[in-house]
Amino acid sequence: MNYNTEILTADSSSIRKAAELIKKGKVVGMPTETVYGLAANALDESAVSGIFAAKGRPQDNPLIVHISCIGMLDGLVTAVPETAVKCAEKFWPGPLTMILPKTDKIPMATSGGLDTVGIRMPSNKTARALIDACGLPLAAPSANLSGSPSPTSARHVYDDMNGRIPCILDDGRCAVGIESTVISFEGDSIRLLRPGFISVSDLKEVTENVIVDKGVLDIVSQDAVVASPGMKYKHYSPKADVIIIDGSLDSFRKYVSDNKVEGTWCMTFSESDLSGIDCPAVVYGSTDEEQARRIFNALRELDKHGAKKVFARCPGKTGIGLAVYNRLLRAAGFQVIRL
Ligand code: TXA
Ligand code: MG
Repeated sequence: MNYNTEILTADSSSIRKAAELIKKGKVVGMPTETVYGLAANALDESAVSGIFAAKGRPQDNPLIVHISCIGMLDGLVTAVPETAVKCAEKFWPGPLTMILPKTDKIPMATSGGLDTVGIRMPSNKTARALIDACGLPLAAPSANLSGSPSPTSARHVYDDMNGRIPCILDDGRCAVGIESTVISFEGDSIRLLRPGFISVSDLKEVTENVIVDKGVLDIVSQDAVVASPGMKYKHYSPKADVIIIDGSLDSFRKYVSDNKVEGTWCMTFSESDLSGIDCPAVVYGSTDEEQARRIFNALRELDKHGAKKVFARCPGKTGIGLAVYNRLLRAAGFQVIRL
């Protein structure tokens, strides 16, 4: 790992170049509609070990495998439950990952030692063209260093991966901004393991039986056996100490003016949230969709400003807001002040 990392505008020639690197077992930065990923041949154990090395990721945290058409599922999974077929029809290509029983073709390194694999068909055109150009399923976790906020631009990937990978395909800012919804299947129920842009109410259009896993909103202990290993790890953390303030705008303003110290920043919905209060803020938007698009950039901005303590306004907890809240909770190490 000592590359002169290139940022390449995603066009047909750079996609071909990236595909050649992947076919040789290398890891490249790949845009998707959710967040940027670190892509490698999902079927090649040594290529996959390159992903874990570049990210500094624990070996037991499994990778999502990306495909570009339904035909690619053949040979990767041993069964597709009826509910999963319906989800694929409704939400693919798009920001949904389904956990399915894997075949031996998927190495244990890819699945983190599990006998299941997460499969996703992205909608981003560059991602799909890259998978097609490789003719391979691509394993890709979010392209951040393990523990830092997910990257939503090629620049974010560069900031974390410079020197660690040969190139990044730049396709601008990610349209969704938070990682895919992750689900598994139990009989005809869907278990939500990680909330995302595909919301609980979207999933309920497929089946009424949607179970929200306890790990979505609760702290999971380090030695727990969990449905999704990613739940265990500290995530999305900026260097600052983030605290979620759950209450009205008035109570937020009062809390900030009573408690701010040197190095305090805020994460607000709009510029005017702090009018009259002398505290700097990074704005992350006022709708669920906008907050999803901007949350990870906001967390990275706070680090750039050298924020020490961050008071964050609490997102809504339903629809896509649940996904934003889930990410912010992890960034805050589950510190919430309810006013
Ligand atoms: O939107 C996304 O999903 C992005 C883009 C690049 O596609 N990828 C992504 O990957 O977020 P990653 O590795 O950062 O997060 C994958 C999550 C982890 O929490 C992991 O534990 C869980 O999915 N996961 C993967 N395979 C699993 C499996 N077989 N069983 C349970 N959970 C799994
Ligand atoms: Mg990640």
